[in-house]
Amino acid sequence: MIVATTDRLRLRDWGEGDAERFYAVMNHEPVMRWLGGVQTPEQWREAHGRIAGFSRDFGHTLWIVERKADGEMLGFCGLKRVNAPGASCPGDVEIGWRLREEAWGQGIAKEAAIASLDLAFGRFAAPHVVALTVAGNTGSWGLMERLGMRRRADLDYVDPRFGPELNPTIVYSIAAAEWQAARAGL
Ligand SMILES: CC(C)(COP(=O)(O)OP(=O)(O)OC[C@H]1O[C@@H](n2cnc3c(N)ncnc32)[C@H](O)[C@@H]1OP(=O)(O)O)[C@@H](O)C(=O)NCCC(=O)NCCS
Repeated sequence: MIVATTDRLRLRDWGEGDAERFYAVMNHEPVMRWLGGVQTPEQWREAHGRIAGFSRDFGHTLWIVERKADGEMLGFCGLKRVNAPGASCPGDVEIGWRLREEAWGQGIAKEAAIASLDLAFGRFAAPHVVALTVAGNTGSWGLMERLGMRRRADLDYVDPRFGPELNPTIVYSIAAAEWQAARAGL
């Protein structure tokens, strides 16, 4: 099912064969650098299970991002719930993104993120949305800032699964009214 369309993209639910394709095109070192490194098939199966669980439990998830022009899978972007060990804001609506390397630097993540925030504050009526990353992942927090999200150092926390290179988790947030104002300027 298609959940959103933008100028260049479709955001859609996961279907048959998508998990295998995603693992093949996404599970590479540059993409996974700030996410704990490349995943074993077992780790990806568990991650994909969590993606399916968000859909089942909340009706939203990290949707597949595909290029409208040819249907190519570019990655995922969408809405999950904060579930990381040690998190300061468990259960909050969280926006997340991951694109294959060939899709970086074209504004595709931003385009998909705008559609996801519209869904968060529209269809899913979230009071606010958070985004989580680490200081080294400049591409990710740069996008958070371009979207008008605010740094919330008071919500930073240590994720016990990772060592110092991937800690602390840093937190950004945006509320519904702030998104209306930010979106007008994008
Ligand atoms: C995080 C990630 C999604 C960011 O992707 P991105 O392509 O840098 O983000 P955007 O879509 O906002 O693109 C911005 C870049 O596209 C450029 N661009 C080109 N055409 C553009 C257009 N039409 N509109 C907007 N920007 C455009 C911008 O100038 C900018 O380039 P710059 O960073 O060199 O200044 C990507 O790096 C990624 O998938 N990383 C690996 C996974 C990951 O770490 N995920 C986050 C976990 S917390």
